[in-house]
Amino acid sequence: MKAIYIVPGGAEVAVDVPANTSLMRAAVSNGVDGIIGDCGGAASCATCHVFVDPAFLGLLPAPGWNEGQILDCTAADRQANSRLACQILMTEALDGIRVTIADPQL
Ligand code: FES
Repeated sequence: MKAIYIVPGGAEVAVDVPANTSLMRAAVSNGVDGIIGDCGGAASCATCHVFVDPAFLGLLPAPGWNEGQILDCTAADRQANSRLACQILMTEALDGIRVTIADPQL
C-alpha cells in the first residue's frame, strides 16, 4: 500500500507503507522531508502534523482525546483536516492516502 506525502515546497513523495504501520513511521523510515516524529509515535510531540486529503478523512477513526489535545498545540495552525501522522495506521482502505505535511512542525 502507498501513501502520498506532499512535502514542504509542494513536491509529492510516494512511499510504500505496510499494513498497521503509521504514516509517521513510514515517513521517517524513508527520509520524507518535514515529518520529525520526536516522541516516537506517542501522540505527545505534535511534530508529525499533517493535513489529510478530504477524500480520505472520513475513512479515519476520529481522533482520540490525546490526539485532539495535541492538535491544539501544533506549530502550524490546526485545520479541520489536521491529524497526527503517528496516529494514522495504514489499512487497505487507506491505500493511496494523500497527506500534506504541515510546515513548520516546531
Ligand atoms: Fe509525536 Fe506523532 S510522533 S505526536
